[in-house]
Amino acid sequence: MPLPETFIYNLKQSNPLDAVMASYSRLIKRGRNYVCLCPFHSEKTPSCTVYTDNGSFFCYGCQAGGDVITFTMKIENLDYIEAVKLLSERAGLTMPEEGAQTDSSRLKSRLLEINRAAARFYYDTLTQSAQGEKGRRYLAERGVSQNTLTKYGLGYAPGDWYSLANHLTKLGFAEFDLIDANVCGRGKNGGLYDRFRDRVIFPIIDLRGNVIAFGGRVIDDGEPKYLNTSDTPVFKKSRHLFSMNLAKKSTERRLILAEGYMDVIAVNQAGFPNVAATLGTAITREQANLIKRYADEVIIAYDSDKAGVNATQKAINLLGEAGVNARIIKLGDSKDPDEYIKRNGAIRFKQLLDKSDNALDYELNKCKAGLDISDASDKVEYLKRCVNILAGSSSSIEREVYISRLASENGVQKQTLAEQVNGIIRKRKKANEKREWDDIRISGALRTANGSPGLRQSTSSVYSNQTKAERGIIAYLAKNPEEAGAVSSKITSAYFATEFHRLIYEKILKSIKNSAEFDIMSLQSEFSADEMGKITEIVINNNNIANNKTVIEDFINILINRLSSDICAKDLSDDDFVNHIKNIGIRKQQKN
Ligand code: GTP
Ligand code: MN
Repeated sequence: MPLPETFIYNLKQSNPLDAVMASYSRLIKRGRNYVCLCPFHSEKTPSCTVYTDNGSFFCYGCQAGGDVITFTMKIENLDYIEAVKLLSERAGLTMPEEGAQTDSSRLKSRLLEINRAAARFYYDTLTQSAQGEKGRRYLAERGVSQNTLTKYGLGYAPGDWYSLANHLTKLGFAEFDLIDANVCGRGKNGGLYDRFRDRVIFPIIDLRGNVIAFGGRVIDDGEPKYLNTSDTPVFKKSRHLFSMNLAKKSTERRLILAEGYMDVIAVNQAGFPNVAATLGTAITREQANLIKRYADEVIIAYDSDKAGVNATQKAINLLGEAGVNARIIKLGDSKDPDEYIKRNGAIRFKQLLDKSDNALDYELNKCKAGLDISDASDKVEYLKRCVNILAGSSSSIEREVYISRLASENGVQKQTLAEQVNGIIRKRKKANEKREWDDIRISGALRTANGSPGLRQSTSSVYSNQTKAERGIIAYLAKNPEEAGAVSSKITSAYFATEFHRLIYEKILKSIKNSAEFDIMSLQSEFSADEMGKITEIVINNNNIANNKTVIEDFINILINRLSSDICAKDLSDDDFVNHIKNIGIRKQQKN
């Protein structure tokens, strides 16, 4: 059962797209519309537009687009019903019973229930059972306070193989769901076993308070040190950060980013709630974008070992691309923030944060590694490395300041350094443009291969007249639904050469027939988020054409002509054939 149209209408009225998007990206007013940095790809200049008259958005950089529901689906990684549910909650609307659940949203709710029950079980075991003593002692030895333990809902998984499986099956959860949730595995004998055994448990909680996964640490020196939930329908490790649910409550707009669960816990306990960690992997673009929603500045507090230094450089790059300012702390001879705080205390850690290097200082410092600056050829190498780093700064003032400093420190002409830097910037810009263009072509090819044949990129010059006409007609109907009867009496969907366009045309006609108030964005439930992006693009890029009746008539004729020149009558249904003959007749009369 689909959701009632009036409900979706109310939902969209109560969730204006610009208001919803504003919590993910900073919107800048431009005329009647807004522009912003696209929340779906990394960019430095805004290519995403929010159209206020029809509540749609479109990014010219990555072709994402659609309405407030598409937007929510994409940014929160939800399916249609889940996005509607979230927006209902946001607006305080009650979702109608019918149509409120899909198989996939039902599965996800069951997995979340399982995770919650498992977290409860691990917590109770840690805090209340005799077996939990082992976990309690371990956490106490590592200086975790009672308060912190409760705040993070830490737990302990017993050492036998079946405690959790037995507990959860008794509660009525199905075996295959326990396996899907990745809390249990299936043994050779066909029975269930617990994945986490004799480990301290760290629940991973998303921004809405759902327990989505677990990390478990061995108590002794066993292997692997940490065991984590694999990706499940409710958990993708590349999208989440440990403790972000707590960090997001901080109003600081500054986030401390650590590597490990224990680091986060130590930093939080020391009085800095704005701390989070990636889940045992290098930071991803999705995580950087997530961070950008809550912070303008990140202080990277990674481990001081080689892996940590590499990870730091990667984080600087990705955060920079996401538009987040990065600073880096130096832990001296402590291996990680946890150890630093144990040795030096919270006040010293605060000082460390305050005198953290900005990314540029940090990277320039690193250029000296392995070189002896008093040696002339090493100095050349050092300056070459520095010039490369400086060319990466997007602020001309920053470049200017650092170039001056570098020149005077090393006894070289400022002018010379500046020329080098500018040369690299120019070269990179060219390479970038080429790469972006390649990306666009590749993504176009991929989408075509993924089953929407004939989809092409938006550069209008590459379209054939046929494609232009098809796109124009779709946009025209989107704007003038009352013309549906007139248009459909001349061309049926068979006149569309592009399968995707044909499908849109069919759905538009059907939707106009069935609804009092047609809105192209209501095709939402029929198309994927990516396809909605494509549809939005068609509507937006044909905005002018869509008001012009003569152009539309030409377009219709282009479609009719093609069909009459290269389609055999036997390919047409009876209705289409009659229409076809009728239309050729009409054109002949017009010409005479
Ligand atoms: P301890 O202080 O030793 O408890 O660990 P830590 O929190 O300092 O973590 P560490 O620096 O050793 O590792 C950083 C993060 O990488 C951990 O918090 C885990 O998320 C992840 N990690 C570490 N070891 C493993 C492992 O053996 N397997 C997996 N999958 N992840 C690991
Ligand atoms: Mn550690």
